[in-house]
Amino acid sequence: MNAALTFNVKPESETFIEPLSPIRNTTRVNTQQKIIDTFAEWDTWETIYAVRDALELYHSVTLIEADENAFDKLRDLKPDIVFNVAEGFYGISREAQIPAILEMLNIPYTGSDPLTLSICLDKGRTKEILTYHKIPTPSFITVNNINEIKNIALRFPLIIKPNAEGSSKGIFSSSFVNNKEELTREAERILNEYHQSALIEEFLPGREFTVAMIGNGNETEVLPIVEILYQDFPENFIPIYSYEAKWILDSKENPLDVFSCPASIDKNLEDQIKETCLRTYSVLRCRDWSRIDIRLDEQGIPNIIEVNPLPGILPDPQDNSCFPKAARTAGMSYSDMLNKVLLSAAKRYSII
Ligand SMILES: Nc1ncnc2c1ncn2[C@@H]1O[C@H](COP(=O)(O)OP(=O)(O)OP(=O)(O)O)[C@@H](O)[C@H]1O
Ligand SMILES: [Mg+2]
Repeated sequence: MNAALTFNVKPESETFIEPLSPIRNTTRVNTQQKIIDTFAEWDTWETIYAVRDALELYHSVTLIEADENAFDKLRDLKPDIVFNVAEGFYGISREAQIPAILEMLNIPYTGSDPLTLSICLDKGRTKEILTYHKIPTPSFITVNNINEIKNIALRFPLIIKPNAEGSSKGIFSSSFVNNKEELTREAERILNEYHQSALIEEFLPGREFTVAMIGNGNETEVLPIVEILYQDFPENFIPIYSYEAKWILDSKENPLDVFSCPASIDKNLEDQIKETCLRTYSVLRCRDWSRIDIRLDEQGIPNIIEVNPLPGILPDPQDNSCFPKAARTAGMSYSDMLNKVLLSAAKRYSII
């Protein structure tokens, strides 16, 4: 097929991660002001070229950057299908922009539709839908104003995060809060620095998993479950997969060895996690692929943290990207994984 790859690339001049010096094994790493995380969700050329090379094993691939010229380029090129990894830039519906353009141009594309992409980026909205469908997710509120946290009825400890970001943007060790004072400080930070609602939710104390899925309907495949092993983090590090954990503690040079895949869990828990993920995938109408983050509550019940219909796919195993990690455990190469996603989309559109 004639395929196109739509993407957003991290600006080369951006010093994306400034060194945190020193990152200490204390319960508070209060240096987040130094971190520029604006482009954390966007891909590097390394990833974009790796995706292109993987698809080129079977198709011809044209790169199209998801900028203001994307519409004209897609209309003129009219590819048979688009592999979309563009995260977008402006607004809460940013991930939906390329898919919306493609629907207007009647061009098939991989992944979820604009509605699902927009809902999943809005963690509060996603949780409202999950709650309606009785899928476990921590109790929460979203606030737009600092006064709204005065009479908060949630049980501490809490976690507070920007309502609509990914790649742990805005989530630091300090986002884990034990009292109103800490909550107020973090709410102010999020409202001021991220210009969006803050999502405040009860902290899930149990084990954490992330679950990669490929396919549609009855053919949806749950890949081997990845566990994040907090016992292997530095001593006293707050057990959350925070910005510090994802991008600073864990680097290509010093990969963090805190993942286990397949997770060592009993069959019962595995079935529960799979069932919760499949139901979530279905009620949110995810298509072709997604990665779902899960954590166990006090009772050991899997709760949904959030859903990523555009999962991160860093190609280098040293980067510890969880979707490719799960695919490797399932015996798929990077290219097998991506071509399987493309095939799921092509089947869905009945173009193969
Ligand atoms: N309610 C919660 N209880 C316990 N830990 C949580 C909770 N919410 C978030 N976390 C921790 O914070 C991490 C990041 O949160 P979340 O997945 O919402 O952020 P994200 O930026 O969307 O992540 P991604 O990089 O997967 O897109 C989680 O992996 C988990 O470790
Ligand atoms: Mg997450």
